[in-house]
Amino acid sequence: MKYAIETYDLTKVYGDFKAVDSLNMKIEKNSIFGFLGPNGAGKTTTIKMLTCLIPPTSGTARVAGYDILENPDEVRQQIGMVPQKVSLYEDLTARENVEMCADFYGMPEDLKETRIDELMELVDIKYAADKPVGQMSGGQQQKVSLVASLIHQPDILFLDEPTIGLDPTTKRVLWDLIEELNSSGHTIILCSHDMYEVELLCDYVGIINQGLLAAFDTPQGLKDTVIREEESLKAREIGTILERIQEETPESEKKVIEEMKKSGTCAGRELSMLITDLSDELIAELESLPVTLEVKRHHTGRIILELDESCDTAINDVLGAVIRNNARISSISTRDPSLEDVFMKVTGR
Ligand SMILES: Nc1ncnc2c1ncn2[C@@H]1O[C@H](COP(=O)(O)OP(=O)(O)O)[C@@H](O)[C@H]1O
Ligand SMILES: [Mg+2]
Repeated sequence: MKYAIETYDLTKVYGDFKAVDSLNMKIEKNSIFGFLGPNGAGKTTTIKMLTCLIPPTSGTARVAGYDILENPDEVRQQIGMVPQKVSLYEDLTARENVEMCADFYGMPEDLKETRIDELMELVDIKYAADKPVGQMSGGQQQKVSLVASLIHQPDILFLDEPTIGLDPTTKRVLWDLIEELNSSGHTIILCSHDMYEVELLCDYVGIINQGLLAAFDTPQGLKDTVIREEESLKAREIGTILERIQEETPESEKKVIEEMKKSGTCAGRELSMLITDLSDELIAELESLPVTLEVKRHHTGRIILELDESCDTAINDVLGAVIRNNARISSISTRDPSLEDVFMKVTGR
């Protein structure tokens, strides 16, 4: 079995509203898959269908090799789920909550407590094992939820926005845990709208928007698509502007060229350098480079260059100019488009 999840025209309709619209995707085993999308896009609905909590209106899916319609019980044995809203019994302690889950899955008594202890140690919540869940912080509850979802050793773990509302430290702990679980063989399906989180953790990303899968690729693949799209867009726009330049008077030329420069400025392609011994000559030389669109100079000595082509090819020209001018670079960084740029583009937000 190559795929942990395969969906076939998976669809959910509420009344006359399509919450999930003919979803087709394949998620590789042992990967971390990020399911991105704005609020109301259909992430939770998809997860609920894949975890056999609600039936699809049409289409189907295979989860861990089992069909969700034909073999829901087998599917349930192979999956763990941390829901968007923590669904633990607040009056019961962490241990009692997890014990209930273990009983639900029919875990043998002798194995049960050992496994609960192991998992609680793994996520570092054992110190609060006997505390009622209602008296715990959001992060602690999330950890108990995670233990409960892992008790029956599922192959596939669904996490629906698990780090929402957590403080940065607890977030990091959860991220480490997700990576650890993945290296120990779990496939992770992570719903999120935290781009940083998705970029950090995920091997593959699907972007869902208004029920439709708008993009599916590796994070780098998504970024490359945006780079290519912007390049062709840029080429088209510059072409139009150049045509207009020929038609218009010299006075308007300046404005048009400004426009051209702006249209060439795409997400990313920034080179930021902190330079000691920064001279006006160097700035002038950088400005005159064919790859330079704009040079911004900060009082700290940092200059931000907007480059006309990928930094991969432009960087040598820039460094050459710095060296010729006997300036010294004390720090340098480039910025590619982020997943956030991809998200904005794909969802039109
Ligand atoms: N039980 C339901 N009845 C009617 N509409 C629903 C129901 N559950 C979800 N929806 C609608 O389906 C859409 C997708 O919801 P959801 O899957 O929860 O989005 P997400 O998790 O991406 O934020 C939303 O517009 C939501 O209002
Ligand atoms: Mg949701």
